[in-house]
Amino acid sequence: MSLLRHSLVLSILLASPAAAQNLDSLLARMTLEEKLGQLNLLSAGGRASPAQMQLAREGKLGGLFNVIGAENTTPVQRIAVTESRLKIPLLFGLDVIHGYRTIFPIPLAEAGSFDPDAAQATARAAGLEAAAAGISWTYAPMVDIARDPRWGRIAEGSGEDPYLGSLMAAARVKGFQETIFATAKHFAGYGAAEAGREYNTTEITERTMRETYLPPFKAAVDAGVASLMSAFNDIAGVPSSGNAWLTDTVLRREWGFNGFVVSDWTSVAELIQHGVAAGPSEAGRRALTSGVDMDMQSSIYVDSLPALVRANRIPMAVVDSAVMRVLRAKMRLGLFRDPYRARTTPPVAETRALARRVARESIVLLKNDRNVLPLGRNTPTIAVIGPLADSKVDPLGPWHTLGQPEDVVTVLQGIRSHASATHVLYARGAGIDDSSTAGFAEAVAAAKRASVAVLVLGEREDMSGEAASRSMLGLPGVQEQLLEAVAATGTPVVLVLMNGHPLILEWAADHVPAIAETWFLGVEAGNAIADVLFGDANPSGKLPVTIPRSLGQIPLYYNHRNTGRPFEANNKFTSKYLDVPVTPRYPFGFGLSYTTFAYSVQLYVHDEVASVARPVRELKGFQRVTLKSGESRAVDIRVGVRDLAFYGLDMKRVVEPGTFRVYAGPSSAEGQEARFEVIR
Ligand code: NOJ
Repeated sequence: MSLLRHSLVLSILLASPAAAQNLDSLLARMTLEEKLGQLNLLSAGGRASPAQMQLAREGKLGGLFNVIGAENTTPVQRIAVTESRLKIPLLFGLDVIHGYRTIFPIPLAEAGSFDPDAAQATARAAGLEAAAAGISWTYAPMVDIARDPRWGRIAEGSGEDPYLGSLMAAARVKGFQETIFATAKHFAGYGAAEAGREYNTTEITERTMRETYLPPFKAAVDAGVASLMSAFNDIAGVPSSGNAWLTDTVLRREWGFNGFVVSDWTSVAELIQHGVAAGPSEAGRRALTSGVDMDMQSSIYVDSLPALVRANRIPMAVVDSAVMRVLRAKMRLGLFRDPYRARTTPPVAETRALARRVARESIVLLKNDRNVLPLGRNTPTIAVIGPLADSKVDPLGPWHTLGQPEDVVTVLQGIRSHASATHVLYARGAGIDDSSTAGFAEAVAAAKRASVAVLVLGEREDMSGEAASRSMLGLPGVQEQLLEAVAATGTPVVLVLMNGHPLILEWAADHVPAIAETWFLGVEAGNAIADVLFGDANPSGKLPVTIPRSLGQIPLYYNHRNTGRPFEANNKFTSKYLDVPVTPRYPFGFGLSYTTFAYSVQLYVHDEVASVARPVRELKGFQRVTLKSGESRAVDIRVGVRDLAFYGLDMKRVVEPGTFRVYAGPSSAEGQEARFEVIR
């Protein structure tokens, strides 16, 4: 059975003229309170509270989120569509980020597959499961470009590159929107939080905004995304939830976005803390007039704005436009016709198989000296060690919605089922962030008895995601010592990393022969990892972010500018550090395979001379190729002239004539080089 057959054939059809007329007459019948009620979005703790049900009855609620399960969405929806005066259905939102019940790799991991079709397929599957539970709207994809590994939310996006990020954004929007509405978030620049500190302020020039942070949002809009979420951060003093340039000038006027904008959580109320509003009314007025249509969780629109509208401090036309955007969305989703939504049963086996395939594709092999990997199936004894080796919770990663530990295949389980002839020893060794080394002796003893030790180390699932910035990017607790103690046995070590932040692991990079970055791979983590460890799958994932050598190098990203004094080894007065090389430990786009049969060709361009200095490389295309042994293939990657455009001195997009370098290869730091010229 195909996944598509299960889709609800979402009525994301353009509303017909008749429907539009109906909405106009509906709007004409609404009181001011009912209008502002449509802009009111509240979080429920699993189910609607009696107070929220009463708001639905009074027409003072546009939607709820965090209502779990159709058994809980249905009763409150029934109140909205049968007991409220105008019978307008509610939207049901939820953070379905990388799966609903069947949890897929975290978005950062999945971006490393460089496979937008895979991202579309997992979003589609997640949407199906969510829709079956009455959900109509997800707060995903997160499309924030992230160049700072300290920022915990780097795990939720597609990494540092706007081109890859844009393809993934569009793919996820399309996948979700086969059944539910998607939300591109967080608009905008949230990933540029200073020092990687969550919710922090940002300084982003308009050029960087347009060239780096906005492209994935534009891609989401072009893919038809229904909503955007305004971010928590301010940009040079202008909070994103009260930024008319972003939500009106760019989003609506330039891009022609006709969906709706929802605030992130209480970011409307937070305009007060930012210091741009003296109180709730001013905060609400600023947000609404800037283009934030729905107020998540502050209740300011519904509580404080009626008086301002009546006092003519907010034009009714502004309220009406916002209300119409929300109503049109509900119409577009088919909620007026089918408020409870069709119930379907998502295909369980296919979804699991998809989870395993995408998890395999997301694994990045960082190092494989002396071909330690793949492991032979007849390896006599394998020691599986580490606090994450048999963890059933952590592979789910941050934001795992309804993911259940019992659904997870751990690495230990995966290895056991792959190596039936092998004696598999297991020792936890230490906790993820414990200080106790009491378990080391058992781990060392297991390693001594084995011909290879697989160490599964990294972060707890809640050490990345929202409100999870880290100032140190090593292994938490005593895991580094555990690694060194096991390595000291002389038994070859395979380090399997599970983490949401890119980690800086210099000792391991220098001393451990094999390292696989697996991020958090979801329910099929253990099977997918074992598939790669035993060579059933050839690793093909690539890094969607740069891995630095030291914290002091941050921010470090591949598409930086050259400077007037680019690094030269023998010239002190060039751009470098005294104590660490300028290069990353592992560059963006890097990832090994066991053979050269699976190859990813990445194509980068550099504009050599332009009126504005251009990045040393910019990804412009890529392709995944799988070849048979001995086979070769020509790969055709097209870059159009328009793909060479940038924002010139006058902030208009321009392609300037001149020479360009083009690089094709397996990462952002390697490859063959050629030149071409744009003549006019
Ligand atoms: C806050 C987060 O920043 C956002 O990403 C999420 O969608 C909302 N909370 C709702 O849970």
